[in-house]
Parts: sequence; C-alpha cells; structure tokens
Amino acid sequence: MSSKRQIFRTASTISVFVLLFTLYSLTEGKVYEKCPLARALDKHKISSRTLISNWVCLAMAESGGDTDKVTTLDNVSANYGIFQINSKTWYREGRKGGRCNKKCEDFLTDDLTDDIECAKQIYNDGGFAINAKIYTKCELVKQLSAQGVNRSYHGHWVCLAMAVSGLDTEKTTMLPNLSASYGIFQINSKEWCRVGYKGGKCNMKCEDLVTDNITNAIKCSQIIQQQNGFNEWVMWQKKCKGKDLPDVGHCSAIG
Ligand SMILES: *[C@@H]1O[C@H](CO)[C@@H](O)[C@H](O)[C@H]1NC(C)=O
Ligand SMILES: *[C@@H]1O[C@H](CO)[C@@H](O)[C@H](O)[C@H]1NC(C)=O
Ligand SMILES: *[C@@H]1O[C@H](CO)[C@@H](O)[C@H](O)[C@H]1NC(C)=O
Ligand SMILES: *[C@@H]1O[C@H](CO)[C@@H](O)[C@H](O)[C@H]1NC(C)=O
Repeated sequence: MSSKRQIFRTASTISVFVLLFTLYSLTEGKVYEKCPLARALDKHKISSRTLISNWVCLAMAESGGDTDKVTTLDNVSANYGIFQINSKTWYREGRKGGRCNKKCEDFLTDDLTDDIECAKQIYNDGGFAINAKIYTKCELVKQLSAQGVNRSYHGHWVCLAMAVSGLDTEKTTMLPNLSASYGIFQINSKEWCRVGYKGGKCNMKCEDLVTDNITNAIKCSQIIQQQNGFNEWVMWQKKCKGKDLPDVGHCSAIG
C-alpha cells in the first residue's frame, strides 16, 4: 500500500517535472542557426532581403543566435536577447517602458516579434549602439592615452565629452536639419561620417562612433580637432573654453 503510494508519488513528481520542462522549453529561448534565423527575420520583415545577412551577422556576433542570452553590464542595465538590446534606453525590467515600450522579459522567448520590432526602431533611430556604456572621466582618459592623445589636452576632451554627451557612448542626437550627431563626442554626420557605410572626412560609419569601444570616436575627433580646432564644438566654446577644466591629473595614478 505505502509502496504503491510511493510509486504513485514518484510518478506524479516525474510527470510534474516533465510538464515543467515541456513548458520551459516552449516558453523559453532557443539557439538559432544562421539559416533558420535568416528565414525567421525575413518572415518578420525585419528589413529588405538584401540586408538580412547583416542582421544575421549582428545577431550571431551579439548572442550566438541565443534568444535567451542576458548580459549584465552593471547593476543598472543589462543586454537582452538575440540582438543584446540594452535595457537602459530601450525598455524596462518588469514593466513596459523605454523607447521600445517593451518589457525586458519579452525578449527572452523564441518568438522574435518583440526583438525585431525594437531592433528596427533602434536602426531607424540612427544606430545600433547596443553595447554602449557611460564612461567615467578616468576611463576616458585611459582611452585617450592609449590612442596617444597629447596629455595637455586631456582636460579639454573630458570637458567636451561631459558637455556634449554626459560621457554616454550611446548618445545619438537627431537634428532638425536631417543630420545627426553620434557618440561620446557627438560627431556630426554632415561632414565627418556616413550612416550605413564608411565615409565622410573620417572615412567612418557613424554607427561605429556609438559603441563602447571608442577608438573610432577618438580617432575621428582628433581629425576634427586638427582640421577645425575645438571650436567645431559649440558646447566646447560654451562650457570649456577658458573655463576650469575637470581635474584628471589623478587618473593616471589608478592605471
Ligand atoms: C550599484 O552597486 C554599487 C556597489 O554595489 C552601489 O554602491 C550602487 O548604489 C548601485 N547602484 C544602483 C543604481 O543600484
Ligand atoms: C602637447 O601639446 C603641448 C601644448 O600645445 C605642446 O607644447 C607639446 O609639445 C605637445 N606634446 C606632444 C608630445 O606633442
Ligand atoms: C546641422 O546642424 C548641426 C549642429 O548645428 C551642424 O553641425 C551641421 O553642420 C548641420 N548640418 C547641415 C546639413 O546643415
Ligand atoms: C576597438 O576598435 C578598434 C578599431 O575598430 C580595433 O582595432 C580594436 O581592436 C578594438 N578594441 C577592442 C578591445 O575590441
């Protein structure tokens, strides 16, 4: 009797597990291979066919095709889903919100509808800055040093970045005149970069100026400064020229 009950219990425990596992695999993410992903993206009309391979490439680089991937960046934001879209700007944890008006959790299913809608919006907003972050003053100084920027000007560059972007590598500003300014130094697309392909006087894609790797942003800003001086940036004239600059002298001490 008791052993029968035991068996029954074990059986029902197992079936609960099987049920949970089935539910889990139905509702949770999956890992896409390239071709099925291309078909899924095309089915959801993410873009014209000619651009699908770029989207697949992006998704593979960001998540390895894993719809379940969450990368915690710090205690305020994380990257979610197959395109690793960041929660700070684009959506909110636990409730709908952000510029995509979605919940982070919506991104972690194998249904790509939400990911694709948000990815399209990011793309239309001028850039795919999904790995962007906000630098500290000293992190910026470290990158400036690594790129060989003259130390005498570090204070000016940090002042400029604080004034134009708040040190936010993700910042994209659409301007009324149909140009846009990109990244930590708010480099403008009219003269210096091109949207979607390499070009402008920096011979760069504007999208490459809005990632957490600011090598290109620094290189381009050096070209701008050599050609036009800091005066190119109106905010530099207002907030930095002849003003007390941020003290970054202590930065080198912390490597
Ligand atoms: C992030 O974590 C640090 C260290 O644990 C803490 O001091 C800080 O207040 C946290 N910030 C937020 C927004 O939770
Ligand atoms: C850095 O800039 C200062 C001030 O313009 C200049 O005197 C110095 O020679 C420059 N250093 C290098 C290594 O170019
Ligand atoms: C648009 O405005 C920005 C900022 O005022 C300026 O830098 C840029 O040159 C302008 N672009 C065009 C196309 O006039
Ligand atoms: C940052 O970008 C530059 C230029 O694209 C590249 O050469 C460099 O390897 C990148 N650094 C890292 C840490 O990915």
